Amino acid sequence: MLDIYTIGEDVLREECKDITEFGDEIRMLSDAMLDTLDEADGVGLAGPQVGVSEKIFVVHIRGEKPLVFINPMITETSIETGVYEEGCLSIPGVYHDVVRPLAVTVQAQDVTGRHFTIKADGLLARVIQHENDHLHGKLYIDHLDEREKEKLLRVYERKNKARRKQKVRV
Ligand code: NI
Repeated sequence: MLDIYTIGEDVLREECKDITEFGDEIRMLSDAMLDTLDEADGVGLAGPQVGVSEKIFVVHIRGEKPLVFINPMITETSIETGVYEEGCLSIPGVYHDVVRPLAVTVQAQDVTGRHFTIKADGLLARVIQHENDHLHGKLYIDHLDEREKEKLLRVYERKNKARRKQKVRV
């Protein structure tokens, strides 16, 4: 299992590098990321969240096949937008509505380097956009206005302090 980096870590704010080698290393990383994602009970996990500043994210929507996106590029977004409550494994314990396009087209490579294109809507479109943001140092809270963002971060800090205290007490 890989460690999940949380907000405050520099790696979450960096622009990721392209992946150019498609060998055992990238296959092992994507397997480890999928295991970590399932263990954390999330639906998406991006490289920076496990301390890897490279363009890779994995998606696993329950009941569907796990997906690996390498060097992804969102090439089309729908004009129509929608609201959905998002969370992030790197900002645990808080959630907030985020407005995003409802459908996207994404081009990416799989672990063997093969190029593919997916047209997605619904939850998959939502997760692809959230994870793709991570590869550019962006978090979902950056989509909120400043007041909402500050409020959410205060709640996060409070919850985390409580969690740390709890740990010490045990
Ligand atoms: Ni996230």
